[in-house]
Amino acid sequence: MDQDAKKLIAAQASLEFIQDGMIVGIGTGSTVNHLIDLLPSVGDKIQAVVSSSDASTKLLTERGFEVSRLNAVNDLDLYIDGADEATKHMHLIKGGGGALTREKVLAGAARKFVCIIDDSKLVGMLGTFPLPLEVIPMAQAFIARRMVKMRGQPIWRENFVTDNGNHILDVHNLSMANPLEMETRINHIPGVVSAGIFAHRAADVLLIADDNGVRKMGN
Ligand code: 5RP
Repeated sequence: MDQDAKKLIAAQASLEFIQDGMIVGIGTGSTVNHLIDLLPSVGDKIQAVVSSSDASTKLLTERGFEVSRLNAVNDLDLYIDGADEATKHMHLIKGGGGALTREKVLAGAARKFVCIIDDSKLVGMLGTFPLPLEVIPMAQAFIARRMVKMRGQPIWRENFVTDNGNHILDVHNLSMANPLEMETRINHIPGVVSAGIFAHRAADVLLIADDNGVRKMGN
């Protein structure tokens, strides 16, 4: 099975978490795009849908959903999103698509966070995938120097502006033995809007697609 087929079956498996009357948050990325394609099949169960990016909002709208603002609804019953890396502790790196801040807000607002991945993303330790940081533009060079002090190699994602009008630094080679501590440390640097480490708000459920189907971790 190729990687895209695995993304599709992971997305399919997440549909069973959607129950009658739920307010559902939708993430961003190619795995979630499969979910958005499938979502009309359970549309009658969804009370409201909230999106983590302009890109997902556009796709949801095209599929007939009216997308609610987070400010207009209560907390989410469920948030479904992909990831760039995940561990068996449910810690994640996210933000490959640059939507990490809104994704983090929706994950934080959700009672349950279901993360859908193919098996290439399950890792023993986070950090092979460069860590995305959303930063306010005037602080970018300062934050890059801080990351070098932490032994990372920050690369500015050129020609990319987030939905919030900010920049992304992709930080390579960070030692991520303690993701909780790393997330806290980076969060304390002024000008960092958010870090793509999802450790303090980890996933509750991981749906991992491999050649044999989809396996579930957590609940
Ligand atoms: C976007 C994300 C995505 O969840 C992550 O990049 C995975 O993307 P894909 O499903 O395309 O592999 O965090 O900001």
